[in-house]
Amino acid sequence: MPSRAAAVVRGSVPWSESRHRRSRIGTEIRTFIEPADLRRALVADVREGLTPRPRTLPPKYFYDARGSRLFEEITRLPEYYLTRAERSILLRAASSLVAGVHPASLVELGSGSSGKTEIVLDAGEREGSLRAYAPIDVSRDAIERAVVRLAGRYPELDIVGIVGDFHEDLELPFAGAARLVLLLGSTIGNFGPDEARAFAGRVRGHLSVSDAFLVGFDLVKDRRELLAAYDDTRGVTAAFNRNVLRVLNDRLGSDFDPDAFRHRADWNEEESRIEMHLVSDRRQTVSLPSLDLELEFEPGESIRTELSHKYTRESATALLEDGSFEVERWETDEEDRFGLALARPR
Ligand code: AVJ
Repeated sequence: MPSRAAAVVRGSVPWSESRHRRSRIGTEIRTFIEPADLRRALVADVREGLTPRPRTLPPKYFYDARGSRLFEEITRLPEYYLTRAERSILLRAASSLVAGVHPASLVELGSGSSGKTEIVLDAGEREGSLRAYAPIDVSRDAIERAVVRLAGRYPELDIVGIVGDFHEDLELPFAGAARLVLLLGSTIGNFGPDEARAFAGRVRGHLSVSDAFLVGFDLVKDRRELLAAYDDTRGVTAAFNRNVLRVLNDRLGSDFDPDAFRHRADWNEEESRIEMHLVSDRRQTVSLPSLDLELEFEPGESIRTELSHKYTRESATALLEDGSFEVERWETDEEDRFGLALARPR
């Protein structure tokens, strides 16, 4: 378990001469989680997920360099409407959302490539109050790239990249002046309902009354549309799903044959979620020597690799209220595919 005491400044990205002369602002990367912590967590998660049946894996392991590239490709697929829908909401509403908060900083949980963040950063700069940005992600590579790119684009901003797992109880930077905390892209959908409530409560615990929480929710819609978004015709989502097995092979020395597993996406109406599976297409044995584990797979037996919960305005509001937030604004795209909630501590 990575501890907060382990937080050390591990390195910094050099800033340009001109910026250096102009002001004290700069960039910095803080590390809350070390490769050894990540590996311990991976080993524990894989053991807990794959030993009992039915088998599961946490979705956070999709995102190695290859998985992150595949996810970026997913966001551009015709079937994967989520990213475009959220972007269209931000393009229309970011300025007015930001105007209501006057944030001195943005803190982004699970920032990935920070692609859509620029819309919010632009709004913050126009509004004039914004001084700082902190992307938080478990991927050091993603953080380094985001920090370098955004430092170039926003030389007036203080940028603090945080390598850490936002599922853990991370301290959020820039306390003391109004902060806008972002959880975009329907990332919240990966949590089960109880976990999502607990998570919202934990974020709430870190915030004060002048702060706000902007959360993206994918909305319940026609099941065919949902299923297509998670099973595209080009097979990019299938490749993304199978990539998690390569991640295990790379990091744990296991011998999964990704081609012996088929991608499947189901819509679970009762639980209001997409469930992604990797289905073994034959009887096979997989060994994970570093875990001292041999796994038997029956033909048709699956590993559930992701839950992606879909919300309504009501269920999103109830979730945030259970976490002691109050929804101040609710914005959707023109086709009501995606919702953004601006929540305030109660
Ligand atoms: C990044 C978790 C929001 O659930 O839609 C995309 C990941 N999985 N296609 C989602 C994902 C399959 C995505 N999130």
